[in-house]
Amino acid sequence: MTKGKGQGAFVSGFSKKTKAEKLDWISQQFQNPTQAMEVLQSYNHSDEALQTLHDEFIENAITNFYLPLGVAPNVIINGKTLTIPMAIEESSVVAAASKAAKFWSTKDGFTATILGTEKVGQVHFMYRGDSQKLHQFFEQHKAALLASTDEITRNMRNRGGGITAFSLVDKNDAIADYYQLDVRFETQDAMGANFINSCLEQLGAELKTLAAKHSDFSEKEKAIEVVMSILSNYVPNCMVEAAVSCSVNELLQTPEDSRLFAEKFVQAVRMAEVEPFRAVTHNKGIMNGIDAVVMASGNDFRAVAAGIHAHAAASGQYRSLSKAEIKDDIFRFSLRVPMAVGTVGGLTKLHPLVRWCHELMGTPNAQELMQIVAVAGLAQNFAAVKSLVTTGIQQGHMKMHLLNILNQLQASGSEKKAAIAHFKDNTVSHRKVNDLLSKLRNA
Ligand code: MEV
Repeated sequence: MTKGKGQGAFVSGFSKKTKAEKLDWISQQFQNPTQAMEVLQSYNHSDEALQTLHDEFIENAITNFYLPLGVAPNVIINGKTLTIPMAIEESSVVAAASKAAKFWSTKDGFTATILGTEKVGQVHFMYRGDSQKLHQFFEQHKAALLASTDEITRNMRNRGGGITAFSLVDKNDAIADYYQLDVRFETQDAMGANFINSCLEQLGAELKTLAAKHSDFSEKEKAIEVVMSILSNYVPNCMVEAAVSCSVNELLQTPEDSRLFAEKFVQAVRMAEVEPFRAVTHNKGIMNGIDAVVMASGNDFRAVAAGIHAHAAASGQYRSLSKAEIKDDIFRFSLRVPMAVGTVGGLTKLHPLVRWCHELMGTPNAQELMQIVAVAGLAQNFAAVKSLVTTGIQQGHMKMHLLNILNQLQASGSEKKAAIAHFKDNTVSHRKVNDLLSKLRNA
């Protein structure tokens, strides 16, 4: 191990070390190794079997990284009342979702609709030759290519899923000699990444084998080069819509206030449709809800986020994912997002807290989970835009952030109590909390 000035140490064979050796080595990188080790160990689970399970999720696990798990109760979706789990660090998100859920619970709650469940995968390859001959080859061997995946798809087919469509795509206009096998899948309650990737790798291998034996091809044409075989996280036909609606007069206390609010709300959403700087923040608010539930459900939040942002930019400009309108005196607010999530496979059955979250949500299937996640996104977006066009965001945000500031300033229990009471009717800021604590401490 060598350690240069201002840089971390280099280590060989770290992954081969035992966990104790890893902890020891990593702690030595700190000014105070004993303290560093204590922090790591304090986050280890006291149940050894559970800790081993966590350690085996990833390589080089040295401890656990905690995020708070909160719940948003009273979320009515298609007439069913749910409590939704949310794993997130941002102080105001769960409060906002709960507030929006409560608000809409007096107006029949949220509706959610599945618009499609198709997943996408591609074998990207280079074929240097006569395009016509490749198309003929594909038509001739399509059945054999599909049949080569039979073993892999058997269980999924028994569950009603499998490969649903399969085509050859000519991408020569983008890159010379570039083609794809474009494959569509139904993966039922699985997110399907492993299943899809296994099918694609098999198709890629079979494509090469069949091409190498194809007598109509020249030697150059026989040498198909598979560059990669991988699912796409962009799933425009695996889409869910969440919506709320009510009379435009029933949003606030009086019909006049209500209509004014609705008009301002629609205006704000319209701005996020046409202005990318606003759209990104607007959609970030939606992702506050979406990511938190996707994370609590043990699904791949990076995949979901990548697909959703691609959808937001599908028109060529990054736009709001949600829409709001007033039509025939009805205010309607809705959100459409593509989403590949699963309720079997991955961490969903393996991680005890994730399993607990699924049970809390009523053990949803994949389509129901898509609906719950989309509703969390819409609830979050409603709460954010409502605050923005009325009180401003900081009032609620800083109230929720108050405890973080108090903890940063190492406030005692009684100081926290006093501060919470004080800021019930006063605007929170870091300086004001500091001033209050100084006052309390000097009293
Ligand atoms: C903060 O996490 C999210 C908001 O900025 C979203 C928005 O501006 O719509 C409040």
